[in-house]
Amino acid sequence: MSAKSQQASKSSGSVTLTDPSSGQALELPVLSGTLGPSVVDIRALYSGSGYFTYDPGYTSTGACESKITFIDGEKGILLHRGYPIGELAEQSDFLEVAYLLLRGELPNETEAKDFVDTITRHTMVHEQINYLYRGFRRDAHPMAVMIGVVGALAAFYHDATDIGDSTHRMIASHRLIAKMPTIAAMAYKYAVGQPFVYPRNDLTYTENFLHMLFAVPCEEYKINPVQARAMDRILILHADHEQNASTSTVRLAGSSGANPYACIAAGIATLWGPAHGGANEAVVRMLEEIPTVEQIPEYIARAKDKNDPFRLMGFGHRVYKNYDPRATVLRETCSEVLDDFGIDDDKLKIAVELEKIALNDEYFIERKLYPNVDFYSGLILKALGIPPELFTVIFALARTVGWVAQWNEMIEDPSQKIGRPRQLYTGAAERSFIPLADRG
Ligand code: SDX
Repeated sequence: MSAKSQQASKSSGSVTLTDPSSGQALELPVLSGTLGPSVVDIRALYSGSGYFTYDPGYTSTGACESKITFIDGEKGILLHRGYPIGELAEQSDFLEVAYLLLRGELPNETEAKDFVDTITRHTMVHEQINYLYRGFRRDAHPMAVMIGVVGALAAFYHDATDIGDSTHRMIASHRLIAKMPTIAAMAYKYAVGQPFVYPRNDLTYTENFLHMLFAVPCEEYKINPVQARAMDRILILHADHEQNASTSTVRLAGSSGANPYACIAAGIATLWGPAHGGANEAVVRMLEEIPTVEQIPEYIARAKDKNDPFRLMGFGHRVYKNYDPRATVLRETCSEVLDDFGIDDDKLKIAVELEKIALNDEYFIERKLYPNVDFYSGLILKALGIPPELFTVIFALARTVGWVAQWNEMIEDPSQKIGRPRQLYTGAAERSFIPLADRG
């Protein structure tokens, strides 16, 4: 089904709510999409009944209609514009997936070449941006630097920020996708005290990123095709994931008409949390904490202990109650990369053993806690020579594609309004002010 012929939602009957106090009935339409659960359209609920819904964490709430990514958490399915993530990871490349997410269809040869050329020509950043890094401590976490520098892009690009103009939106989208590797590599170079490396137009997107990360002026940097392929697959697997926390942040920020660079900076800030994209760094730190395979049961016990804040990082997911399909691909990629690099990483052995023990433990089985995208990605990045503090930066680099695709879709949605959730108020009822002298 092409993006053009894709259907909008369709009405599938209705549900009737009965007010427990007045007995008044309210009929609410049910809408169905192409795949996945139907939804109860509650837009008329408050005006028709005086009730709000209540769903902290949005466990049962659809915030928008989207055609970009579909996830079936029970079956462990992830589709981007209908294409299974395993096939894209195996047969596509990151910029082609970026095109697919943005435009809705796989590109033909001309479209692919034009897109790659456009992105390539936007990879440089304004020379003044170099000076922004000098305002940070060298030991700042690179995610803090990314939030600052990406947000600062709003101070540089005034020529295309009319978000009501689709051409302006596409220019901003191309700039963000193109510049994230450059900005990320500059954050790393600044941290290690090496000179910034300019992008090269003769390299692919991912080769260019690795070159900007690891090249030094003193010698020629040789691209390792195995490393480049593994990194490109990592980027594909992190590109988009429906309405996760950081994507929802970008949509909410964008719904107010905010500057696109500011919206993406907000997404980066949200992704940084260890419950979200920060988990990949947390997994490797956790594995570093577990000295030997024999001591794994001790950490499993801690993860199950409600009085212990320790969690099994890289396990569990709000949506996947089955294996995260990305984790499956990453586990295979992890073994391939370690073999190709001849690395015998005992942390992989600990990770595989940890997974095996957890998946046979009643606590994890009962709660349907499986490895997620973050469980193996860190081990691959470590094998590729990436320091742990850069892991979430790479997640943000990849997810920028999903964020800008979802941001464009939100703005183009005719039903789009500024996001403004309500609440269940349990604070003090109205009371009169008490002057300080009378407060006792
Ligand atoms: C990402 O949303 C996305 O799509 C995100 C993402 C994407 O691509 O954008 O997929 C990327 O963020 C993956 C998730 C990375 N985070 C981690 O690996 C951190 C560890 N995982 C957890 O913190 C947790 O599983 C979450 C945050 C991922 C999901 O939390 P939920 O859905 O709110 O579930 P919950 O916290 O209510 O947990 C349900 C139960 C609880 O036990 P009970 O209160 O029922 O007894 O499972 C337990 C939790 O205590 N639990 C864990 C656990 N995860 C959940 N116990 C131990 N270790 C864990 N990892």
